[in-house]
Amino acid sequence: MMGDTTERYGTLSRFFHWFMALGFAWMFLTACARFIDKDAAFTKAVFQYHGQVGFTILWLGVLRILWAISQSKHRPHNNTITKLGHLALYVLMLAVPFIAVLRTIGSGRPFTYWNTIPILSGSDEKIQWMVDLGNSLHGNLGWLLFLLIAGHIVMTIKHRIAGGEEDVMPRMLGK
Ligand code: HEM
Ligand code: HEM
Repeated sequence: MMGDTTERYGTLSRFFHWFMALGFAWMFLTACARFIDKDAAFTKAVFQYHGQVGFTILWLGVLRILWAISQSKHRPHNNTITKLGHLALYVLMLAVPFIAVLRTIGSGRPFTYWNTIPILSGSDEKIQWMVDLGNSLHGNLGWLLFLLIAGHIVMTIKHRIAGGEEDVMPRMLGK
């Protein structure tokens, strides 16, 4: 079933969750490669798709949140701590790529999506506050997001081991 029920997440929510999880795995790989050695051939090969996949996460994230809001009356229930954890993930999954896009606008660099769709045509004018905001926040908030994701995965495993009612995995597997 497309929509969510109080028992489990529906097809569209599961698609957003697992497809975007692949995207986040890619972002983690590329960010780690850059952190370890930004001049390595491997980093250059993979990092060229960091912004492309990150921009995909941004627009998919907007659709995912709108969908989550439309389903909020009949989604699986969670306690306040879990709700706050999910809220933090939603906020950062938009804020981190959005700040990177702002930095690109500020730097005047062009941005072409998958070598075909022109998103930013580029300009000679630099907007310094956008560049500064991106330089100080994008990487740091990105690492914070990865830390929260790690916590989210650890909590899921912990609940799975506890088993029974506590196991929330079937909700996201559609069982
Ligand atoms: C959810 C999406 C994203 C995540 C989680 C993410 C994460 C990160 C992280 C953790 C770093 C720091 C790497 C280091 O310490 O060397 C980084 C760097 C970078 N990211 Fe992203 N990123 C995302 C989206 C984007 C987008 C959409 C763009 C371009 C429009 C972009 C462009 C860059 C650039 C140019 C750097 C190198 C400069 C810097 O460290 O700030 N990122 N990203
Ligand atoms: C191996 C990786 C992952 C596993 C096993 C996992 C597992 C789960 C499970 C079982 C739920 C349902 C929780 C509940 O309703 O109590 C959930 C929800 C959620 N997960 Fe993950 N997750 C993973 C990766 C990620 C990643 C990379 C993100 C990125 C931010 C993420 C963000 C969320 C969010 C925001 C929710 C709330 C429901 C939604 O809108 O999708 N998860 N996850």
